[in-house]
Amino acid sequence: MQRETAKKSVIKIVMGAAILLFCGIAAQRASAIPQPAAAQTGNAGEGQKLFEQKCATCHGPDGSGNTPIGKAVGAKDLRSSEALKMSDTEIFTQIDKGKGNMPPFGDSLDKAKINDLIGYVRELGKKQASTTSKKSN
Ligand code: HEC
Repeated sequence: MQRETAKKSVIKIVMGAAILLFCGIAAQRASAIPQPAAAQTGNAGEGQKLFEQKCATCHGPDGSGNTPIGKAVGAKDLRSSEALKMSDTEIFTQIDKGKGNMPPFGDSLDKAKINDLIGYVRELGKKQASTTSKKSN
């Protein structure tokens, strides 16, 4: 009788542990899929292609804004400290809706593509930070 209940409670504990473990794994998986860091930053490699097609005329391939059109419209240096301070949401809105002389891209770029671009804009900022100190213009 005693042994019987002891056995049952062992089974309960094992089952409980198994359920907990399973839930833990499931929760981890669930959080791994919409991981904001990965999802929001997007694929910088894809972003680079898009950037060269859509943005480089104004912002320059390096993000400096040092192009004839860029200078004419006042495209900002995407590696500047102000640009680096922008949140993902701010950059998203800027690309989606445009601002000042920058046209909106929301019609031609879906969310995922804009996220890829954000990823690449971040890369540009990092490159600048790791390679050179500010060039004087
Ligand atoms: C027609 C020229 C033009 C094109 C094309 C363009 N931009 Fe811009 N961009 C600008 C201008 C001008 C500004 C400054 C807007 C303002 O603040 O008045 C700007 C600002 C920005 C900023 C904010 C920087 C800051 O410090 O405020 C980001 C980020 C940005 N552009 C990203 C992009 C991306 C990504 C693309 C391609 C999808 C793109 N731009 C295409 C002209 C352009």
